[in-house]
Amino acid sequence: MRSKLARFTDNAARKNVIEPGKPVFETIKGNWHKHFENGHPLVLELGCGKGEYTVGLGRLFPDNNYVGIDVKGARIWKGSTVAEEEQLHNVAFLRIMILDIEQFVAPGEADSLWITFPDPRPRDRDEKRRLTSTRFMDIYKNILRPGGWVHFKTDNTELFDFTLEQLQQRKDIAGLTYTHDFHASDMPERQHNIITGYEKRFVAEGIRIKYLKCYFA
Ligand SMILES: C[S@@+](CC[C@H](N)C(=O)[O-])C[C@H]1O[C@@H](n2cnc3c(N)ncnc32)[C@H](O)[C@@H]1O
Repeated sequence: MRSKLARFTDNAARKNVIEPGKPVFETIKGNWHKHFENGHPLVLELGCGKGEYTVGLGRLFPDNNYVGIDVKGARIWKGSTVAEEEQLHNVAFLRIMILDIEQFVAPGEADSLWITFPDPRPRDRDEKRRLTSTRFMDIYKNILRPGGWVHFKTDNTELFDFTLEQLQQRKDIAGLTYTHDFHASDMPERQHNIITGYEKRFVAEGIRIKYLKCYFA
């Protein structure tokens, strides 16, 4: 296992990791198509951790570009390593705080996004730090193309119900579809069969995975 320091050194030398200190970090906004050298749709995974979803989708759909976003460089390293080994040129990672995403993705530049097993942040005073809270949703609305899907998966019932409630209160949400038992559902997204480390653990404990998708009208 490589040390944290060695992972950071690897990340610094890799084209598929965009992070502070690299010239591309300052210029990537509005230029993702140049980075990938194609005009394919840009799909984001927010709080990607080790990037299992980003890499999994990248393998399945070579005609989309996938960017996993996380603040933790040592975790991103894992996904970036797999993407390099498998020569997945449609996969990259961006190391930022998600609150700052509008500095890196132009209005309407993203085709769709996935929020996979975010930290539930159960304390009331942390409500606005939840990645599905209203202030984050407003940010996603700005960076998504019209009709771009938001996908959300979680093990956490409280976070899921909070998110549903927030979305149902908004006037600008369309196509809201959800299930409290993703793996027993017939959602087309289930066919991707990408299961992250977190998800595996929850499923093994018998916890049902909750999933929803919607877009901004
Ligand atoms: C519970 S883990 C889930 C990782 C991955 N999605 C999975 O399913 O395996 C949540 C991840 O989100 C990242 N994260 C949480 N809040 C974040 C934020 N505001 N900005 C960037 N990353 C964040 C954490 O660093 C962590 O890697």
